Amino acid sequence: MLNVALSDTVFKQLRDFIYEKSGIYVADTKKYLVEKKLLARLEEKNLKSYEDYLSLLRFSGNGDELAKLYDAITTNETYFFREPQQLTVCVDTIIPQIIEQKKSRDIKIWSAASSTGEEAYTLVMMLLEKRSCSRIEVLGSDISNEVIEAAKKAVYGSYAVRSVPPPYLAKYFRSNGWTHELDIAVKSMARFMNINLIDPARMRAVQGMDLIFCRNVLIYFDDKAKQKVVSLLYDSLRPGGFLVIGSAESLHSVTRAFKPVVFNKVVVYQRV
Ligand SMILES: C[S@@+](CC[C@H](N)C(=O)[O-])C[C@H]1O[C@@H](n2cnc3c(N)ncnc32)[C@H](O)[C@@H]1O
Repeated sequence: MLNVALSDTVFKQLRDFIYEKSGIYVADTKKYLVEKKLLARLEEKNLKSYEDYLSLLRFSGNGDELAKLYDAITTNETYFFREPQQLTVCVDTIIPQIIEQKKSRDIKIWSAASSTGEEAYTLVMMLLEKRSCSRIEVLGSDISNEVIEAAKKAVYGSYAVRSVPPPYLAKYFRSNGWTHELDIAVKSMARFMNINLIDPARMRAVQGMDLIFCRNVLIYFDDKAKQKVVSLLYDSLRPGGFLVIGSAESLHSVTRAFKPVVFNKVVVYQRV
């Protein structure tokens, strides 16, 4: 195994590079994590130092290594039916309100930073059960290609499905004890693509969303990056549409553009 150390100077340069490209801010206390996560990249590329790796990132034109960097440094923890109070409020209260506003039962939802797809597919299943929409279009996106490919495959381990209610598991998955393959009908209602949340050009291509989930990702950004992302998400929503962030997160001090609305103790943000 390669025996190299990440100096403080190179760590800071790497940190700045990661921040500039992705909005992710790596605190000093997480230096050991970056060092550990990127060691495999150095080995794969036959590089002798982190400095050489930084040069590769800076000067390899096609972005291949940048994509590998995102795969390596992102935290992709997610699971089906995560933070269920928020999901229930969306399906039972917000979607009916949107249908009423639009006078249409065609709904467009974006799971921005979807990781391996559990959030996007949970919403599809819940809406199918509710039968309130005539057309459901869910877009899932992430900065990591690895998780997008996993989302497209939609085959999950037991850990990912641990909170799926048994009737849903029986109805929407084909399970063999170890793996749980999502039903094609659910899969076909979600599509996945690579979108970097701080890239205005990619973000502006997404328009007219009724509901955006952007949960458990803003925590990796500093205030400046959060402000940029939230303003881009605002522009992707239809007027009257809603943004949902993680239940432990807040947009206080990030934006005043949204109107915070509380439904059954769940705070969501409406584009007015
Ligand atoms: C902890 S997961 C959250 C997944 C899901 N939203 C949830 O709440 O369960 C965070 C995801 O954000 C993605 N991410 C981080 N920075 C990003 C960026 N700049 N653009 C898009 N996705 C990003 C990561 O790759 C990761 O998959």
